[in-house]
Amino acid sequence: MSVPSGISIRRATPDDAAGVAAVLNGVIAGGRHSLLDTPFTEAEERLYIRELPERSFLHIAEAAGGIIAFQTVVPWNTFTTREFDHVATMGTYVDERHRRRGVGAALAAASFARALEMGYEKIFTDLRADNLDSLGYHLALGFTIIGTARRHARVAGRDIGVIFIERFLKG
Ligand SMILES: CC(C)(COP(=O)(O)OP(=O)(O)OC[C@H]1O[C@@H](n2cnc3c(N)ncnc32)[C@H](O)[C@@H]1OP(=O)(O)O)[C@@H](O)C(=O)NCCC(=O)NCCS
Repeated sequence: MSVPSGISIRRATPDDAAGVAAVLNGVIAGGRHSLLDTPFTEAEERLYIRELPERSFLHIAEAAGGIIAFQTVVPWNTFTTREFDHVATMGTYVDERHRRRGVGAALAAASFARALEMGYEKIFTDLRADNLDSLGYHLALGFTIIGTARRHARVAGRDIGVIFIERFLKG
């Protein structure tokens, strides 16, 4: 997957916090896609990026006007010793004005490659059962559905089902 023209992808630093928070808060404010219902301040986002656990990264996609999307990859499980070291989880957020231009796919290509380099063998993640945009995106990337947990998230006071999905990085 090539990177769309005029867009570049790189690893974020804490100084990218404002742009990352703007994209994330835009999705949260939209109220339809995210499992999060509470916006983040720039300072909170800066701390999040600075304190990312080992074997984690945040990729950003930038256009001339600044950050338009980002993707996080972090260990799925940090409460056991080594048993889940090969499993990462991933979150993807593209600004509404830049969707369906291949930005999410380009981020995933970069993230899958880096995750493999870091020793991960699969990505395990989740999405709102009513988020058909995310489902379409992840299925296009080769994820498969594991199942749906009912009434699993309480977002802005409403119970929502959560679909769990996985993708092996090595085929
Ligand atoms: C889901 C999301 C990350 C996709 O990012 P994107 O940059 O628009 O995706 P791409 O343009 O790279 O799409 C790649 C492929 O995924 C599939 N896809 C992407 N968006 C889709 C949608 N809304 N419906 C169906 N399929 C979709 C398509 O097959 C697409 O290829 P095509 O455009 O050639 O048909 C983006 O819509 C988004 O940020 N949504 C809000 C936040 C969110 O839901 N994040 C996921 C949380 S789990």
